[in-house]
Amino acid sequence: MGTVIITGANGSLAIPAAEFLLRENPDITAIFTVRDPSNSDANTVHLRQILARYPNVKTSIHALDLGNLAAVQRFADDIAKGITNTQYPPLKAIVCNAFYWNLVEGPDFTDDGYEKTFQVNHVAHASLVLRLLGHFGPGGRVVLFSSDAHWPGKNSLEKIPPEIPSDLERLVKPPPDPADKKAALCFQRYANSKLAITSWTYSLNRHLLKDPALSHITAVAINPGNLSDSRALRTNTPGVLKVAQRFVIQPFMPVLRLLSDPTMRTSRSAGEDVMKLALGIAHPGERGFFTHLKKEKSSPESLDEGEQEKLWAKTLDWTKVTTGSTALKI
Ligand SMILES: NC(=O)c1ccc[n+]([C@@H]2O[C@H](COP(=O)([O-])OP(=O)(O)OC[C@H]3O[C@@H](n4cnc5c(N)ncnc54)[C@H](OP(=O)(O)O)[C@@H]3O)[C@@H](O)[C@H]2O)c1
Repeated sequence: MGTVIITGANGSLAIPAAEFLLRENPDITAIFTVRDPSNSDANTVHLRQILARYPNVKTSIHALDLGNLAAVQRFADDIAKGITNTQYPPLKAIVCNAFYWNLVEGPDFTDDGYEKTFQVNHVAHASLVLRLLGHFGPGGRVVLFSSDAHWPGKNSLEKIPPEIPSDLERLVKPPPDPADKKAALCFQRYANSKLAITSWTYSLNRHLLKDPALSHITAVAINPGNLSDSRALRTNTPGVLKVAQRFVIQPFMPVLRLLSDPTMRTSRSAGEDVMKLALGIAHPGERGFFTHLKKEKSSPESLDEGEQEKLWAKTLDWTKVTTGSTALKI
């Protein structure tokens, strides 16, 4: 029982996650958000085909562009209203799966004036989660998405290590990239967003634990593994990566996993693990960072409590979440 929200629900990992959710939990209410709900989006059509196989499960698809913070607020308000008037049961989980990167050009900016990678991946999800904290049922879970990219030196695409700059505003308003560092900074923006999400997971848990009414909600950050079949490798990426996925990464995945990246796997395997965490089938009541389903230490920078709290305060500013728009005492 309960409501599960999945963002970016027509993504590579999200579609098998959705299928697992509906197959294993027919009594769940599933709310799927996608950027483009129309049938001109082939990935949304695919999601609809999966949903059609489970006609007895309560499901709905909602438009939500995380590059628009007013839309995020409206969506959160609608869900909150729906739970209050019993249209939806209380939340069981929010799965903050959607993500953006642009490894070719950038920085890109949203209409809110924030760098798009950072807004879609971190700020918009933080806004959604904070606004809905008062609407969870017992044992609720927030699943945030990290990556090995958050840890300096771990991802093969890294050229400049991820970092949280001392001036946090540079995360949302980075200067133009110097021409000779474009490719490196494009990937660093993605890695920085994942570092910020990982760091924020700790402060979210700290603040939840301070409030007896909300301490039953647990937040986890998962590195789902590098996904050999993800369409992310073909979205806003250089041609060489698209070719590498087709001719090296997919056909040689078992060898690559053995020799260079033990986290590598398919989106289906990752999607099922994500749902196990979301539903508390795996690690009920636990908090923190996970690689696949294994509890691990995240990067040293993500563990710095002073940095976590600075980012927490700044995230409240960016999301414009104030007392009254979240159940947390802030
Ligand atoms: N793939 C990997 O190897 C890997 C590794 C580590 C971590 N992860 C993490 O795992 C998660 C899922 O990755 P994936 O490989 O499944 O990615 P994916 O297939 O590229 O899916 C990304 C999803 O995010 C959505 N999205 C993009 N911009 C959006 C916006 N402005 N508003 C709302 N939704 C938006 C996309 O929708 P549209 O198609 O409409 O843009 C799509 O549904 C991500 O958080 C990613 O960072 C992935």
